[in-house]
Amino acid sequence: MTHETDRLRDLVATELGRARDRTTRLTEAVDDGDLVRQHSPLMSPLVWDLAHVGNQEELWLVRDVGGREPVRRDIDELYDAFKHSRRDRTQLPLLDPREARKYTATVRDKVLDVLDRAPLEGTPLVERAFAFGMIVQHEQQHDETMLATHQLRVGAPVLSAPPPPVSAGKITGEVLVPAGEFTMGTSTEAWALDNERPAHRVVLPAFHIDRAPVTNGEYAAFIDAGGYDDPRWWTSAGWDHRQAASLVAPMHWTSDPSGWLYTRFGRTSPINPDEPVVHVCWYEAAAYAAWAGKRLPTEAEWEKAARWDPATGRSLRYPWGDDTPTAAHANLGQSHLGPAEVGAYPAGVSPLGVHQLIGDAWEWTSSDFHGYPGFAPFPYREYSEVFFGPDYKVLRGGSFGTDRSAVRGTFRNWDYPIRRQIFSGFRCARDA
Ligand SMILES: [Fe+2]
Repeated sequence: MTHETDRLRDLVATELGRARDRTTRLTEAVDDGDLVRQHSPLMSPLVWDLAHVGNQEELWLVRDVGGREPVRRDIDELYDAFKHSRRDRTQLPLLDPREARKYTATVRDKVLDVLDRAPLEGTPLVERAFAFGMIVQHEQQHDETMLATHQLRVGAPVLSAPPPPVSAGKITGEVLVPAGEFTMGTSTEAWALDNERPAHRVVLPAFHIDRAPVTNGEYAAFIDAGGYDDPRWWTSAGWDHRQAASLVAPMHWTSDPSGWLYTRFGRTSPINPDEPVVHVCWYEAAAYAAWAGKRLPTEAEWEKAARWDPATGRSLRYPWGDDTPTAAHANLGQSHLGPAEVGAYPAGVSPLGVHQLIGDAWEWTSSDFHGYPGFAPFPYREYSEVFFGPDYKVLRGGSFGTDRSAVRGTFRNWDYPIRRQIFSGFRCARDA
């Protein structure tokens, strides 16, 4: 056994443990009644997420990688996300909170044993511990989903965290990204998912992109200017949705005589004008951009602004370089319960001078979700391929609720253009 393999096993164990600690915090913050309740038809009850995390871990690591006997084959169907919509999951004979905790703990014990013995090379599934990395990211992604469920929950606040850092200086304006080639996607990142692969050359014309995400203050100016009442700024589908859903402001915003208020995890306070806006859908983002005389960046433009280093022509893993994110680089991992003010992460800036691409708020792009040239589904079609097409828009960069293991310069998220219960914001771009 090589030193490198030992190091990888230690890393996997640490990452599995970090994910489980977060899952535990999110599910122990509320009582059993809250765990089984549906806080929104958009979301599963928290107890479903909990056992689903364990079930995916069992399927991939206990049964597939480990070749072990099933722990609970009888519950596979209940926790298959493709079999039951979120809306219907409370009607299922789910494991109760005590059973769900016991099940996930039993699975984890077996997985740590598999981790000690499994080869971490030889097949694509285990190469550089890919399957373990996929499961770490899966649990962290559900933790972000559970955090979004907490945001929809009604009741006294149960989560707490220190406030994010404040701005180190105002960041305004845009940068010019020169025309030319860059490398998009990755063929080398060990835990990159199928939709991030392979690395490929993309040629873009010159464009401008905002140095910072759109803030609450900027977004409020769009509202005050009548942006929600003027169909000129909206796509036709967007205007239909704005009418049908009676959109007037980001989700969780209310107004009183003093101005806009934002209710975050059970606490209501005036909006901070310097924070990136969150809880806007793609249609709202696109309408703001049109009102501002701009547009949303394409996914390729976002990635070039985030990764391309003009000094070397190389694409970096993250805007600041190849180092794993730290608290100085980006607002990630639920360390804080909201985005940080624009300018709060000078150490996270990209070579072109673009701020806060990673963390704070997911950023809507104008792009539909598709496979890159040479895409191959792995380890199963349902990971990404079944979602390809015009129904989903790509989001980039992660939010304050995204763990560092589940985001990088190449990471792609996707959702319906009407969705805004996620921690979604945006920045603008325009043709040069
Ligand atoms: Fe899942």
